[in-house]
Amino acid sequence: MKQTVSVKNIGLRGVTVADTKISFIDGEKGILIYRGYRIEELAERSTFMETAFLLLNGYLPSTKELDNFENQMRKNRELPDYIYDCLRRLPMDADPMDMLQGAVPLLAMVDPDLHEDSRDANFRMAQRLIAWLPAVTAAWHRIRNGRDPLPPDTTLSHAANFLWQLTGTKPDAEMARYLDCCLVLHADHTFNASTFACREVCSTRAHMYAAVAAGIGALSGSLHGGANARVMAMLLDLESEKDLAGWVKDHIDRGERIMGFGHAVYKTMDPRAAYLKDMATKLGKSKGMEKWDRLSKDLERIATTEFVARGKTEIKPNVDFFSAPVYFMMGIPRDLFTPIFAISRIAGWSSHVIEEKFAEAQDKPMLYRPQAEYVGNYCGLMGCVYDPLTARQEQELS
Ligand SMILES: CC(C)(COP(=O)(O)OP(=O)(O)OC[C@H]1O[C@@H](n2cnc3c(N)ncnc32)[C@H](O)[C@@H]1OP(=O)(O)O)[C@@H](O)C(=O)NCCC(=O)NCCS
Repeated sequence: MKQTVSVKNIGLRGVTVADTKISFIDGEKGILIYRGYRIEELAERSTFMETAFLLLNGYLPSTKELDNFENQMRKNRELPDYIYDCLRRLPMDADPMDMLQGAVPLLAMVDPDLHEDSRDANFRMAQRLIAWLPAVTAAWHRIRNGRDPLPPDTTLSHAANFLWQLTGTKPDAEMARYLDCCLVLHADHTFNASTFACREVCSTRAHMYAAVAAGIGALSGSLHGGANARVMAMLLDLESEKDLAGWVKDHIDRGERIMGFGHAVYKTMDPRAAYLKDMATKLGKSKGMEKWDRLSKDLERIATTEFVARGKTEIKPNVDFFSAPVYFMMGIPRDLFTPIFAISRIAGWSSHVIEEKFAEAQDKPMLYRPQAEYVGNYCGLMGCVYDPLTARQEQELS
């Protein structure tokens, strides 16, 4: 085992905490690969099901393997009945991310593999979660709108079935393909906050569902997956703004963040953002909604210029900047943008849980346990005797 050295690194930036074979980012060059394949190639030529198989297994499936994988996924789309009862009892204005995070342990309770911590059992749990997260998101959306959830359609692809269960309309091939492509682009991203949360939780030997629930919680934050919904809120606010440059300057001067800009790892354009930018243009044309494409590009140009003027050349659009107008033009409600991120990222989270649990002997401890520098008081130590009365009096005086 490597010697542990106590080095203070706030926020763990640049600290390598484990080995992974799942994905890799070159933040300087704007490169993202899953299991050796560049994200641009996968977005262009693969499907979400194939990508999920790749992330979970480490190689691209043969036609037969993909068929089996997809068939299993189609079978897994049915939710247990009690989930619908639980959803109906939730406050109808609950945030869909809170609903999703809460649904995961409820689904765990019916998983026959929950207490078998083998590699195969974890694969089966991953396959159930990949199929269940979209089903539960769609069911919740219908229930909160006073509608009955729809049964899955096994003739439809993963993305098309989600849109059908969500809206009650079978999507056209173009729309299904766009969503499928978005799912490919969001499926993994090395040790981001939510993936690290999953790995950290399962490093205690907690089960897959406990880890994924933690990942969903981490994803919901506005600095992580929650940014996409906030990008759309910003674009809607700016719809009739005449002075975009003034708004950007003011916003940054006030110390506020431009949502969808900046990244902890990329120092250049996020390759996923470049792909989604192009998709926003195509969707704007095919849906007659060019104004959102125009507005996001104007804001991109103006904000980038402003960041450069302030010497922050590395702050560029990230994946959330263009996924927001893309989802909006697809007719997806704004508060479902982040759940859709989760519906995709579950492929990465579950692959990382399996890697964390079953990777060959890694040169790291089995349980994550960082240190913190204590900067509080030392009452009771260093010759100072704990006296509750004095402590209370001191508190009252302060
Ligand atoms: C993602 C993010 C948290 C990464 O930031 P980071 O690499 O940790 O960098 P920091 O938060 O330390 O920011 C570094 C500097 O850039 C500025 N900055 C970073 N992103 C910014 C943004 N989107 N808007 C305005 N300023 C930004 C910070 O204010 C800070 O300035 P300072 O040094 O003068 O204090 C950050 O860019 C951000 O908050 N982006 C907006 C939210 C978002 O889109 N999240 C989705 C990420 S995929």
